[in-house]
Formats: sequence, structure tokens, C-alpha cells
Amino acid sequence: MCGIIGYTGRRPAGPIVIEGLRRLEYRGYDSAGIALFDSDHELYVAKATGKLDNLDARVEGQLPPAVAGIGHTRWATHGAPTDGNAHPHLDPTGRVAVVHNGIVENFEALRRRFEAQGDRFISDTDTEVIAHLLAERLALGDDLAEAMRVTIPLLEGAQAIVAVSVDDPGRLVAARVGNAGGIVVGYGDGEHFVASDLAALLPHTRRVVFLDPGQIADVRLDGVSYLDAAGHALEKPIELQPFDPVAAVKGRYKHFMLKEIHEQPDVALDGVRGRYSTDPARIELPELAIDRTRLERIQRVVLVGMGTSMHSATVGRHYIERFARIPAEVDNAAEFRYREPVLDDRTLVISVAQSGETVDTLWAMEEARRAGCLQVAICNTPGSQATRVADATVFMRAGPEIAVASTKTMVGSMVALHALALHLGHLRGTLTPDQLSEQVTGALHIPSAIGDALLLEEAIEELAGRYAEYEDFLFLGRGLAYPMALEGALKLKEVSYIHAEGYAAGEMKHGPIALIDEHMPVVAVALDDDLHDKMRSNIEQVKARRGRVIALVTEGDTSLDGVADDVLALPRVLPALQPLVAVIPMQLLSYYIAVRRGADVDQPRNLAKTVTVE
Ligand code: G6P
Repeated sequence: MCGIIGYTGRRPAGPIVIEGLRRLEYRGYDSAGIALFDSDHELYVAKATGKLDNLDARVEGQLPPAVAGIGHTRWATHGAPTDGNAHPHLDPTGRVAVVHNGIVENFEALRRRFEAQGDRFISDTDTEVIAHLLAERLALGDDLAEAMRVTIPLLEGAQAIVAVSVDDPGRLVAARVGNAGGIVVGYGDGEHFVASDLAALLPHTRRVVFLDPGQIADVRLDGVSYLDAAGHALEKPIELQPFDPVAAVKGRYKHFMLKEIHEQPDVALDGVRGRYSTDPARIELPELAIDRTRLERIQRVVLVGMGTSMHSATVGRHYIERFARIPAEVDNAAEFRYREPVLDDRTLVISVAQSGETVDTLWAMEEARRAGCLQVAICNTPGSQATRVADATVFMRAGPEIAVASTKTMVGSMVALHALALHLGHLRGTLTPDQLSEQVTGALHIPSAIGDALLLEEAIEELAGRYAEYEDFLFLGRGLAYPMALEGALKLKEVSYIHAEGYAAGEMKHGPIALIDEHMPVVAVALDDDLHDKMRSNIEQVKARRGRVIALVTEGDTSLDGVADDVLALPRVLPALQPLVAVIPMQLLSYYIAVRRGADVDQPRNLAKTVTVE
């Protein structure tokens, strides 16, 4: 979750960029860097590994009186946290500087192309190719905005980019590629800003414009213009952010739940950042500082959690079995504790908890502690009790979740569980290099795929309008889609107060089928995997009983057209990673139905964010 800031204006740019980075430091702090135009309109670049204080110390007394500049705080994905890998990255001639948030999924192929023509790369990052691509276009006579426009289609994956060029000092060009990694432009008095987050701009201005995917902002001292992917000029009205600090934190979203749903590409990105790398494929979980022999001795895994966290744990069970080949079970933490579970020191207990304070989960952990189990927490809250009890914690890296109903922490926990299972599989030799490489590449694509899944929002809002009056829903899925069915039903119950049940689709004919009629819509997760045909049969069984079906399918799958009443097509991802995209329409459907019904979305009745009673 890197932070980006850019400034052009009459005030000295250096201190403004550094101060902006301070507000963004929570997004990443393994290194930071700036590029400023000095008085000769050449680039002054400074970088430092570690926290921003290191950069601050390095530039003290040396900042040129710049009119414009860009800055970046990094959380490493490709390449270790070193000065050389810190942003901004420059092209070989040093004329273009780029800061970037996201992953250029095809950077290796692009890099090979430049290397074949003799270009040298000085970092291990995916970002550096963007500077080369922009420089190539500038050399052909494009201006910076046009160079950016032509470069964007060459980049696979979702990202946010800000670039400057010595050919045009004082000009910042920002782009949002795909539906992840936001860019917001701020309008000050005789000055303009760009940033990855609104929070960095609020000390300076409340007048902002958010870029949509595929849009470019051409930011100059005297004004900002916007372009679409085809190069057409866009009119983008300036929005006024409210003073209310809580509302300001909500940004342009009406509810925290919607904001947090939209943060999920970033959460997935943060989840893979620094943990997954390619060429060769690697998983690194330095936070799992547990003696290797202890990990190798594990004979059984028990996953526990409550609510949404239990559903993530259910996905985690699949991952542990599939990749690490260790027998795994999952339990509701409250039940686990009271059934006198058989545990020993060769059992790994993985507890999943957003808050790290849910009392049922903590009691389950206590039970595991007494039995001498090895414990790993998957948690979102540093310093929480779960992290103190566990031998190690793999963090969800989702940032604060305010809405009571969990959304983004589910994505964060599933990514963390995927990484943990791959790590164990690698360690125990149950994963081939090909499997590891496939999973790593697939996971790096997830932020962008979640961004694409979010593009269903408008269709789902319309769907919600047609389904909001129903009082009962059934959610069905098989395999990895089963926990998604459970989560879909839970979300709908929580925020809209509609009765909903999640079932394993194979179980439907053993009871729930008796409920099916035209008054009970069925949401069926029928993504393209080994179980697709069986899911299709279940959908036919529902239709034969006059049920209404909303089917979630994989893009390109037309087999349910004309069978299901409504079909939502999700981006294709690896089968193991399908829960990460399937959960998105579930969340959006619950949200928009709840809004239609006038429910208190962020604070549903009777619920609490952190449940500290049994
Ligand atoms: C509450 C929240 C749920 C959450 C559950 C577990 O019930 O309303 O959204 O999934 O607690 O919380 P935890 O912090 O343990 O993940």
C-alpha cells in the first residue's frame, strides 16, 4: 500500500512533499523517496531505506527551492527494501521520474524488451519499466500526458502512476490504470496536488477530483486537464469534501461499508506486497518467525474464528490441505472451546480475527495454549490480545475497518491464509515449483481482478432494486464457493435484516429444497472450476421448482444464460483464488439491498464490531 504525493505551485515543493509523505507513511515505510525540480529545472532525487525520518535526515538543509515534485513511501513488492529499489524511478537518461502504486504484472517481458535494446535497469522493481516506456515515447516527440496515455495499455494489472519530466518542469501527469490504486487531485490557491489518498490533501484543500480507472490528470501550475484512454478531454467537476472529520475519512462514500468494499484491491495488494515475488517464485513471511523444525513437525491444523473470520478460516482450511497437505479442520471458536478438542504440541491452531479481541476466539486460543499447540494468528490489529497469545501473527494489512460488518478484512485474511499455506507447503516440500509459481502469479493478479469485480457495482445496484423486497434468500456454493455462500448469507442478514441461509449446494436436496419457490431467491456461486457442472445441476433443480436464481459465473461462461434469472460475470482467476473475487458481489448486493431498505448499514442493530462477551 504505497503512498504517493505530488505538488506543483508557488510554495517550495520539497517540504510540502515530505509533509505529505508523513501523512501517508502508514501506507508503507520500508523506504521513501522524492524527486524535485531544482532551480535549473533538473531533477533532484533523494531516497532512503527505512522510515521517512531517514529521508528527512538525508535531505536536511539540501532541499532545492523547487516549484514541483513527487514523493513516495514504499512497501516492497518486487525487490528488497533498498535505496535502489525506492521510488521515484528514472529512465536511463534521468529525464523522467515515476512513482507508482500497484503491480506491473507483465514487467518481466517489458524489461526483457528494453534490455535487448541495451537499456540498463538499476532496480529490481516492476516500476522502473514505466519510466523506460515513458522516456521511449518522449523521445518520439510525445508530450508527457500523451506518453502516459500510450504507455497505459502496455501495462497489465491495476495501478496508480505519477510521472514528471525535465522536458516540462512543474508538470505532473497522474494516471489510474484499472480499478485499483486511487488518485485524487487537489486544487489549492495557486497550487495543485496529486495523492494516493485524500488524507494527504486535507491539510491543504477540500476541493478535489478523483480519477476513475483509465483516466489521466495533466496537472500544471495554472490548471488541471483530464483525458480518457482515447485521449479525449474530460470535464470532471470539483468535489468539495466536508469538514466533518468522520465524513472526511469516509471520503466520497456514503458509508464506511462501501468505502471498505472499494478498498479491497488495495488490501489485496498490501497482502501480497513483500510476501510474493516472481522469477523465481517465492513466498516470504518474515513475520512467521517460528523455528523451522516446529513447522515441519505439524501433523494437524485447526482453524478457528467467528463470523466472517470463520468463513475466511474455512477458505484457509482448503488452502492448508491443498498446498501443505496437512489434515485441517475448521471450527467456530465458541463451539471449539467447549467440545473438549483433542490437541497436542504437533497441532497448529490458526485463529482468524479482525479485532484480535473477540472473546470466543481468545478462549479457543487459551484452550490451545494449555494443550501446548503451536499458534498462528491471522489478525488485523497490531498489539491485540490474539497477537500477544500467538507464537506468530500474519497480519491482514487491511487498515482500520470501521463498518461493523466485515468486508475488506475478509480479503485481507484470505490473502494471508493463502500465503501461510503456500509457505508451509514450500517448507514441507508438498508444493512443486510450478505450483508455487502458478499460485504466486495468480495472487499478484488478484488486486486487479478485485478491481474488475467492483465494476459490477452498477449492475448489482440495479439488481438490488429488484430483489430488495424479498424476505428470504438462499446462498449456494460448493468447494471454495461454499464459504462464500455462508458469507453472502451472513452479510445480507447483518446489514439488511433479511433472513438468509448459506448452504453447501450438495446439501440443498436434503432439506432447503423444500423452501424453494418464487418467493425465495437463490444466489448460486457457479464459477468455472471442477464443480461447475454439479453447480449447474443444482441451479436447474432450483429452476424446476420455480425458484429465482442469481448466478455468479466466470466471464465468458454462457452456460447459465437463459437458465438463471440474473447472471453476474466475474473476472477469471485461478480456481483457488476465486473466493477473493466471489465475495465482492456478495458484499455489494447486501450493501445495496440494505440501502434500499433504509437500514443503518454501518451500524446494524444488535451487532457490535468487536464482541467481547460469550
Ligand atoms: C462480529 C462482527 C463480525 C465479525 C465477527 C468476528 O460479529 O460483527 O463482522 O466477523 O465479530 O470478529 P473478529 O474481530 O474476531 O474477526
